Amino acid sequence: MENIKSYVQQHKDRFINELIELLKIPSVSADAAYSQDVINTSEAVKISLEKAGCDFVEICDTPGYPIVYGEKIIDPALPTVLVYGHYDVQPADPMELWTSPPFEPVIKKTDIHPEGAIFARGACDDKGQMYMHVKALEYMVQSNTLPCNVKFMIEGEEEVGSKSLSWFVERNQEKLKNDVILISDTGMISNQQPSITTGLRGLSYVEVEVTGPNRDLHSGLYGGAVANPINVLAKMIASLHDEDNHITIPGFYDNVQELSLEERAEMAKAPFNLENYKKALDLNDVYGEKGYVTNERNSIRPTLDVNGIWGGYTGEGAKTVIASKAFAKISMRLVPNQDWEQITELFTKHFMSIAPAGVTVKVKPHHGGQGYVTPIDSIGYKAANMAYTETFGVPAIPVRSGGSIPIVALFEKELKSKTILMGFGLDSDAIHSPNEHFGIFNYLKGIETIPLFYKYFVELSK
Ligand code: BES
Ligand code: MN
Ligand code: MN
Repeated sequence: MENIKSYVQQHKDRFINELIELLKIPSVSADAAYSQDVINTSEAVKISLEKAGCDFVEICDTPGYPIVYGEKIIDPALPTVLVYGHYDVQPADPMELWTSPPFEPVIKKTDIHPEGAIFARGACDDKGQMYMHVKALEYMVQSNTLPCNVKFMIEGEEEVGSKSLSWFVERNQEKLKNDVILISDTGMISNQQPSITTGLRGLSYVEVEVTGPNRDLHSGLYGGAVANPINVLAKMIASLHDEDNHITIPGFYDNVQELSLEERAEMAKAPFNLENYKKALDLNDVYGEKGYVTNERNSIRPTLDVNGIWGGYTGEGAKTVIASKAFAKISMRLVPNQDWEQITELFTKHFMSIAPAGVTVKVKPHHGGQGYVTPIDSIGYKAANMAYTETFGVPAIPVRSGGSIPIVALFEKELKSKTILMGFGLDSDAIHSPNEHFGIFNYLKGIETIPLFYKYFVELSK
């Protein structure tokens, strides 16, 4: 498909500008202040799918934010690819750490992206990666090379747990029928070494509240005589890991799928440089579970992390006070066979049980989802690998990622199909962080690679 290369070269400025327009809309799903922007983004996605050549596009209302559905069915006898992506983005804060405003996209060069990267919230996660699929469709329609049917399902609540998508998928099995699900919402090893994500971690996300006295107290008059909820919370959280950084919740590891030494040796072949890793994060050392290396700790092992902790006085100067309450948001990343609902229960039971007398503890589950692993001998995997091999000149390496896209396990359960995770982002793209960006190289390479996936998937399906 030499044509796709020249099509991309010819239209790249427009492709970049269209993405920039989409990135200007602050579709932050977590913050109700942006709800109209989230809805406006769904409209923009709908229009883009129509323009790209879908025969039918609709905005599907849900109990939450709408889902954009589009399709082009060329022959019901041919295979169908279902593309999933999300148009919502993470909150941009802390705003002051952005070198340019998060919703005013600009192109800047970086060491890793010498040809430039688009800096904006959602540039990589997931507007940029989702839009590659829209442009790939445009190319296939314009060049008359679309080899099969295609359906798009783009949601607006991924960053807050995909509740409405679960609702939608359960009710639309027939409409969403497909032979393979294609997602670009993950990363790859580097611009020289593509990889295909073969696993995602599950997630259990909870919020805890520790209450001591019924009001904030003078820390001199009462200090030492009553439980300080912040002290207690810190101690409780600290006790959730032992000195080897194993998680201490009873039963937590019971169902964890252990990898064989062969599988771990295979994993260790993926290029990874610990010194560069530390340097990129300004760390003097890495940290984690004893017995596992960095690339295992962040992919095949479950974790528990505090994502936020607050309480008491954090304003300017000093205020002598014992707060009535302390809070924390805690996430547990899970691996295959761990059930997120069971883990949430185990956490809750354990956390309540370690509360000392003098405080009361509440645990509020937020959301979660199961992990996912996919084999590398499927038609979908092979097609993806052939596509990457052609555009990058080297085969892709299978990699299990530490991130979560909980909906992927649900797709398998409800729609009975495998998902292929063709990500084009890099870890250094700062998703969820200030200064998120997406390389122009990655964006255009994605648009180039995706049509080849279709081509090889259809060929291998024959
Ligand atoms: N696209 C990410 C997940 C991801 C990124 C997976 C990179 C693998 C590599 C997704 O948008 C995300 O942020 N997911 C959340 C979970 C969700 C339930 C909020 C996550 O992983 O924290
Ligand atoms: Mn994402
Ligand atoms: Mn995300």
